Amino acid sequence: MKKIIKIICITGFVLAFGSCYYDKADVLYPTNAICDTAGTISYVVKIVPLFQQQCYGCHTGPNPSGNVLMGTYAADRAVAASGRLYGSISQMNGYSFMPKGGAKMSACQLATVRKWIDAGTPNN
Ligand code: HEC
Repeated sequence: MKKIIKIICITGFVLAFGSCYYDKADVLYPTNAICDTAGTISYVVKIVPLFQQQCYGCHTGPNPSGNVLMGTYAADRAVAASGRLYGSISQMNGYSFMPKGGAKMSACQLATVRKWIDAGTPNN
């Protein structure tokens, strides 16, 4: 009888605490690993991979969605400078919400883009 209680206790303990590993989004979804707003935000290192993952699929090529062309520094900077880039990804009133049909960017990803824009959209 003691043995059974012991087994139940151990099982309960494992069920209660065993599932705590790797429930961090940054670990589960490596794309979030690019999300680190410390220091200067690099266009090449931080912004391009994010846009590649969430935007370029629809906004590059000869017929970009909504006639909004992205995918080169000049194009990305122009969309950012128009205010439409941040308006759409932060899902502000009056803008089409982006990424279209997808989940809103995380707060950290939004902060990353915001910081890059505030720094003057450098090509760094
Ligand atoms: C699945 C396709 C798709 C994806 C992915 C996508 N877009 Fe769009 N985007 C569109 C379409 C279509 C429009 C035209 C407006 C509409 O239909 O809502 C548009 C419009 C826009 C506009 C104009 C919005 C406005 O209100 O003026 C901007 C800026 C934009 N997208 C930026 C982005 C950014 C930045 C990303 C990545 C975070 C992104 N899009 C991801 C399809 C997409």
